[in-house]
Amino acid sequence: MPLEAPPLVETDVETEAAIVVARDVDLRRLERYYHLAKRQAWSVKDLAWDQLPVLPETRTSDRWQGLWRSVLSQLIQADHIAVKASAELLSRAEHREATLYYTTMVQDEARHVEALMRVADAVDSLGQRNPYLDELADLQYDSETLEEKVICLQGFFEAMVIPFFHDISRVARGSILGELCQRLAVDDGIHHGSGLAYADVLMADASPALRHKVQDRLREFYPIYIEFVKWRPPERAWLSRLMADRDAQVIQEHIQFAHRLVHRWGLTIDL
Ligand SMILES: [Fe+2]
Ligand SMILES: [Fe+2]
Repeated sequence: MPLEAPPLVETDVETEAAIVVARDVDLRRLERYYHLAKRQAWSVKDLAWDQLPVLPETRTSDRWQGLWRSVLSQLIQADHIAVKASAELLSRAEHREATLYYTTMVQDEARHVEALMRVADAVDSLGQRNPYLDELADLQYDSETLEEKVICLQGFFEAMVIPFFHDISRVARGSILGELCQRLAVDDGIHHGSGLAYADVLMADASPALRHKVQDRLREFYPIYIEFVKWRPPERAWLSRLMADRDAQVIQEHIQFAHRLVHRWGLTIDL
């Protein structure tokens, strides 16, 4: 007598069907980000080069010059890394919608480098690299799986740097740098949102082993990220006391954000 199919199998089929539907929905979300990124794409010549000073005219003392030099160094360092990391995602993406989307992100990151280098012509030289940013970049490049790469770069990093663009834009108001940082915040908002959409696709049917791998990578990533936030080169050392409260607030907000984010994929990290 033929055995009846156990209910578990039916449940599995239903679960699998639900995953497929959810994946299609998330891929459509990702495709919408592709179209949004195309609409939002700007050109370096769109910045008001003829109307605004490159850096704020009221903040030109040696101390401020040192600050702009170090801020620009770090922004250029970050965007150079983002060019390589997004190119890696473009070549590794496993879905058509994702490949299309990453063509826009690579162009965004390269344009960011171009615009920042034009702004950096206003300072005599660049400053030190943030060593923790290089460590984060190494973790990103060394990650084996697409899931780790998408979640670390777009889930975490892109979202967490946005408040810094707002801070710089406020301090550099009325200058090209201020205007540029507003555009960087918008672009990175899209990079983050699209990363969540793609991570939702990838994590929907991730195996327990893969989930562990992502979780372990985030555990490594996060403490270095905090060191990256706290690090200040000599040119910005004078800000450390002034910014202590702000730093503590930013880190606290990031911890809450990190918990909410990993919860989205059923992961946990101790922070
Ligand atoms: Fe960027
Ligand atoms: Fe970005």
